[in-house]
Amino acid sequence: MEKNNRTLSLSVLSGKGGVGKTSLAVNLAFGLHDMNMNTLLVDCDLGLANLDVMLGVSPGKNIHDVLKHGLSLEETVCRLEKRGLDLIPSASGVVGVPELDEGRRLFIIEKLNNFLSDYRFLIMDLGAGIGPTVLSFARMTHRRVVVVTPEPTSLTDAYALIKVLFMRHGVADFDVLVNMARSEEEAVAGYERIRAACDKFLGLPVRYLGHVRRDDMVSKSVSRQKALVRFAPRSPAAEDISRIVERLSEMRADARDDIAGVSPLSPDRAD
Ligand SMILES: Nc1ncnc2c1ncn2[C@@H]1O[C@H](COP(=O)(O)OP(=O)(O)OP(=O)(O)O)[C@@H](O)[C@H]1O
Ligand SMILES: [Mg+2]
Repeated sequence: MEKNNRTLSLSVLSGKGGVGKTSLAVNLAFGLHDMNMNTLLVDCDLGLANLDVMLGVSPGKNIHDVLKHGLSLEETVCRLEKRGLDLIPSASGVVGVPELDEGRRLFIIEKLNNFLSDYRFLIMDLGAGIGPTVLSFARMTHRRVVVVTPEPTSLTDAYALIKVLFMRHGVADFDVLVNMARSEEEAVAGYERIRAACDKFLGLPVRYLGHVRRDDMVSKSVSRQKALVRFAPRSPAAEDISRIVERLSEMRADARDDIAGVSPLSPDRAD
């Protein structure tokens, strides 16, 4: 297989559900696309997929057709823009597949790695929690964006997720994104609680990726099935998202050495 040295892979994960992973994954992908960085968005929430619903696209085929019926990824890809922004959808409410076995996991990794050469970013939107599929996808990517809200339950659940990935799988690279913050101060205070817990109990430094303010335009854009950065590009949350997009672009530049000559996805990066 030809080694890809262009794609930075990111998984978007959280301990608690409903913190904004899918909305953020969509808007970060659009933002990166708008900076001329080809991006592939993959719906890895195999049981309760909703990227397609959020974007108002009706995919004919999805990742389950790849897993079950041997379809190629090319046959499932949905073009979100004319060029440079694509989605691989999943299917919602599929019983029996939300957890992937080792064989299927490796199968998907290989297919994606072969498919990724034209993309600068791969963004994998995961389900919430610490189930085996989440943990395996989270281990595959170069970087992990842990989404939290300032609520204590979200912060403690995120800490639990980081702890499992670190203690059990040796994953040590986390970027915390605080969503639905009322202010930057509240966001930084939330991040500080996770940072302090990871430092004290795990001896692990975690980075602050930034914050996105709580903003009614986010749910309005979801109801309209449009990306916020298209629907309300001047809204506070869209402004915050563009700052994070800039950081991701810098992150990719800084990670040049990490991504050169290695596959974007690896079964267990930390091993
Ligand atoms: N910054 C924000 N301000 C206000 N509402 C938000 C914000 N971000 C997300 N939301 C709203 O929160 C709800 C949950 O968002 P989303 O579906 O993206 O979360 P999720 O983490 O992907 O959930 P799940 O764990 O179920 O996959 C949505 O209704 C969305 O509109
Ligand atoms: Mg989601």
